[in-house]
Amino acid sequence: MRHLHTRSPRRRIVGLLTASLLCTAGLAAPAVAAPAAQPAAPALDDGLALTPPMGFNNWNSTNCRAEFNESMVKGIADLFVEKGLQDAGYQYVNLDDCWALPERDADGKLVPDPVRFPHGIKAVADYVHSKGLKLGIYTSAGTKTCNSAGFPGALGHEYSDAQQFADWGVDYLKYDNCNNQGVDAKLRYTTMRDALKATGRPIVYSICEWGENKPWQWAADVGHLWRTTGDISDNWGSMLGILKQNLPLAEYAGPGHWNDPDMLEVGNGGMTDTEYRTHFSMWSVMAAPLLIGSDLRTASQETFDILDNKEVIAVDQDPLGKQGAVVSSAGGRWVVSKEMKDGSRAVALFNESGTAQRIATTAAAVGLPQASAYTLRDLWQHKSYNTAGTISATVPAHGTVLVRVAADRRWATHPPAVELGLSGSPLLQAGKAATLTSAVTDLGRTPAKHVSVRLTGPEGWKVRATSPTASAGLPTGRSLRTKWSVTAPAGTPPGSYDLTLRASYRSPTGARADSSVPLTALVVVPPPSGTSGLGDLTWMSATNGYGPVERNTSNGESAAGDGHPITIGGVVYDKGLGVHAESAVEFYAGKACEKVTADVGVDDEKGANGTVAFEIWADGTKVASTGVLTNAMPAQPLTADVTGAEVIRLVVTDGGDGIDSDHADWAGAQLTC
Ligand code: GLA
Repeated sequence: MRHLHTRSPRRRIVGLLTASLLCTAGLAAPAVAAPAAQPAAPALDDGLALTPPMGFNNWNSTNCRAEFNESMVKGIADLFVEKGLQDAGYQYVNLDDCWALPERDADGKLVPDPVRFPHGIKAVADYVHSKGLKLGIYTSAGTKTCNSAGFPGALGHEYSDAQQFADWGVDYLKYDNCNNQGVDAKLRYTTMRDALKATGRPIVYSICEWGENKPWQWAADVGHLWRTTGDISDNWGSMLGILKQNLPLAEYAGPGHWNDPDMLEVGNGGMTDTEYRTHFSMWSVMAAPLLIGSDLRTASQETFDILDNKEVIAVDQDPLGKQGAVVSSAGGRWVVSKEMKDGSRAVALFNESGTAQRIATTAAAVGLPQASAYTLRDLWQHKSYNTAGTISATVPAHGTVLVRVAADRRWATHPPAVELGLSGSPLLQAGKAATLTSAVTDLGRTPAKHVSVRLTGPEGWKVRATSPTASAGLPTGRSLRTKWSVTAPAGTPPGSYDLTLRASYRSPTGARADSSVPLTALVVVPPPSGTSGLGDLTWMSATNGYGPVERNTSNGESAAGDGHPITIGGVVYDKGLGVHAESAVEFYAGKACEKVTADVGVDDEKGANGTVAFEIWADGTKVASTGVLTNAMPAQPLTADVTGAEVIRLVVTDGGDGIDSDHADWAGAQLTC
């Protein structure tokens, strides 16, 4: 839906409305009297934010702590220049909440906090501008901002506050949603748009109403970007949840109007560098704003290396301005492809799961034209290869392989891409030799020559090849398969361990190429004989749609150990697994078990909306399942014959309607071996 543009009469109506609403808080806003319908512009036609904004915002690293002050902001501006981040495209240095005093002055003007900003905001803006950078500021489309100290918001003061920002030399406004008095969101955000426009200063306008009113449907000609979700926090679950909410909105993004999945957490310490590379890769493939959220004054070299990856930034900043779209997703294996202005595609192979997985697609599937071969550029390795059309890799747990693939004529100047991986299950018991098989496959149009391969394990592990580790030449699509005897020392605790597979080879031109991939091996314990509760056994892996899988309680909320007694239709069970769709829990059965039994259903702990379906898999075969079960149904008994299975997988799907309220129980689940 589009809103209407008739500026002057409307401005007056809005002003009156907000004023009267402020006096009668609690009343819903009546609709603004709408002038006769006119065609609306598809986006703000002001030439701003033609690519997603890049810069810094203090919120994710400081919140309102005292270290958020003039010297921090200046320090960040200095580092933008010194560390080359400005050259990489970072431009906006943005202040978040808590820069002002709680009270306006006698003239209704905003007052910068004299302790944090002793020289005022204009002085900070002048400093930032002197470096060739731009300054951003924050307030809320409400009576107060979000912080509980209650700093003034701009609702009812839009024109005066916008003018004050412009007078200070502000170039970017983040406009939040707290204390909005129930006034219609479109009305609040449009009023500030018009107020900013009235200043005559070009100001990027960032709508921060957390996706509550689906701004992607109405804000293209209101702001340059709009938050699509609640606040990010510095952990894998938060980042992943936001990523999944923002991915389906691809069609709404474009030059001057972007989806905003919130600011970056890269470098804040709550995720691994692999996870931060995923965060940065996926934000770039989604054409998201890249607002650094870590304090660069104390950031590690690794953090700078991620934030400064110009090939990844070029994906984000591509002038065509398309947000990448999901090509496929199954079993935690995501393929997301972004069309680029030069006709190439940026392709993210993203592994949501906790173990290394092969993720594969093709040039045709990501929309590239038919060609005999393509150039494939790895944007984290900074290396180019040729491929006959397959785009695939073994991607580490929580990792992303980001490539740019083009149907260009120069493909033959690059060595062939090879894919490295393990075939078969990387399972072993401590102290016992297991056989793993590695594969090195030529994906290129040209052959890989003089191929040799090497596998290494953690300190103390024995790894020995039991079949050839070299091949004179591999043509397109062919593999060198090598068997390895791998032994983890006796007493190695169950869990996942890193192996590294390395290959070196020559391209037909003689150029040497090296490739390596981190792999996961799982040390497992054989199941006890007799009948055991699954809630008491060690699992091999567990994925869950909300928070962690819980032992012998319901799923509860997102924290570990916050479940309740498992309860389905009023019946309480003291044992079992509490999960949330989409979920999969894997147990090692070692070909020694016969039977899984459980009473399954939707837990009583959430409202009536939960709908799920249960499946039990024995290796690659589904051996038992239910139809869709709802919260209104009693527990259903489920029995599966798992004779001969090495791995048993308990799966809960969302019943076809998304995962909202899908708290599912494997009540009283038992394994008999
Ligand atoms: C809201 C916003 C955050 C941040 C805080 C500041 O939560 O969504 O991004 O600006 O307010 O109080």
